[in-house]
Amino acid sequence: MKIEEVKSSAKTQRVSGHSHIKGLGLDENGVAIQSAAGLVGQTCARENAGTIVDLIRCKKMAGSGVLLVGPPGTGKTALALAIAQELGSKVPFCPMVGSEIYSAEIKKTEVLMENFRRAIGIRIKETKEVYEGEVTELTPVETENPMGGYGKTVSHVIIGLKTAKGTKQLKLDPSIYQSLQKEKVEVGDVIYIESNSGAVKRQGRSDNYATEFDLEAEEYVPLPKGDVHKKKEVVQDVTLHDLDVANAKPQGGQDIMSMMGQLMKPKKTEITDKLRKEINKVVNGYIDQGIAELVPGVLFIDEVQMLDIETFTYLNRSLESAIAPIVIFATNRGHCNIRGTDIKAPHGIPFDFHTRLITIKTPPYVKSEIQQIAKIRAVTEGLQIEDEALAALGELGATTTLRYVVQLLTPASLIAKIDGRKVIQKQDVEEAAELFIDAKSSAKILIENSNLFME
Ligand SMILES: Nc1ncnc2c1ncn2[C@@H]1O[C@H](COP(=O)(O)OP(=O)(O)OP(=O)(O)O)[C@@H](O)[C@H]1O
Ligand SMILES: [Mg+2]
Repeated sequence: MKIEEVKSSAKTQRVSGHSHIKGLGLDENGVAIQSAAGLVGQTCARENAGTIVDLIRCKKMAGSGVLLVGPPGTGKTALALAIAQELGSKVPFCPMVGSEIYSAEIKKTEVLMENFRRAIGIRIKETKEVYEGEVTELTPVETENPMGGYGKTVSHVIIGLKTAKGTKQLKLDPSIYQSLQKEKVEVGDVIYIESNSGAVKRQGRSDNYATEFDLEAEEYVPLPKGDVHKKKEVVQDVTLHDLDVANAKPQGGQDIMSMMGQLMKPKKTEITDKLRKEINKVVNGYIDQGIAELVPGVLFIDEVQMLDIETFTYLNRSLESAIAPIVIFATNRGHCNIRGTDIKAPHGIPFDFHTRLITIKTPPYVKSEIQQIAKIRAVTEGLQIEDEALAALGELGATTTLRYVVQLLTPASLIAKIDGRKVIQKQDVEEAAELFIDAKSSAKILIENSNLFME
């Protein structure tokens, strides 16, 4: 069982529309500040979200779910993201959309299971034998390429490591040189090299070098104490899914035939139920021994009405399992069919499942809030905008939607640019609004001109 040196496979998120959100913006008593951490208004929902963050932190939320309900563009996705940010970077957050579960190749429940396990973190503390110190010397030694040709290859690397107690010179394998380059290690950095695996970790720059420049985004660390070669406690954060993937790799030999075999028909790595059970067993063992700690994270399922009846029954069961993340659902639908049936239900969620969820409402925004959010978005997008133009956006938002208003910013700035101005004025907003109609007006136009369109 391979449990160390696991690469994280955290999903990369594309949240450019939410890049201004930095947290829930609550004060120390959990009361929402009108405009803080990028969030404006929606105070009730933010305070409720804060309570949920507290519950997650003291591990009292396992097995339940949260449902965010509100009309489009009322900040449901933004709130879910803010909850994740409040929980800290080490708590896994796995966002997905209800429709992601439909695939021709993978079972629905399999997709869900995978995402569940992406949202469960494990912190593993291990004592490892390491070489640690400030790099005093880093010299790759080259030789003629043994394969022939003109190039040279690195035969080994000489590295000097210094601690408060002494200095040591090590001769390292070229493979470690690659990891040194990947971590961008230079003379003057504090690093450690695990002696078993050869993995290199750069901890920061030695504070002996701290006075070189005043303005630097560098983390300075003190010169390590103790010997260069020692035992060190190393903390690793991985998710259950990382462990699944690391252990499901098709195990091929090193010889050329099996290498070719792998190239010819790339084997699909399959994560079986058996493997998962085995991993759970090992992880539970580690937890009992105090080596590992469970960090339940957040699984965010947007557009919950896209899930179908089978998935709901599966979720019902998974929420109850011993290791489960907190699941946050979001929907903007009212009464609709439960997918896969003719039964209508609120948000398309079956009643038995609905009773498991804590619901947070996100009501629509008022004019002044829309204005504030538009202002924050303008700042994040690096646009300058006049107060009058912001007021116009607020007016527009009251009859259309927040999202429409936020999206008008870019066209308005382009119109201003064509006019040779840097600052967006009221007339630019009005022109942009005329060019791009909002959803409600679009529907109205369709009804008025229904004779012009095909049925
Ligand atoms: N309270 C708020 N403060 C600051 N920005 C907000 C706030 N609410 C929403 N936004 C921003 O407005 C935009 C629309 O909000 P969001 O995408 O969260 O809506 P939603 O409720 O998820 O809508 P949908 O139902 O269509 O998915 C986003 O760019 C979001 O970051
Ligand atoms: Mg959304």
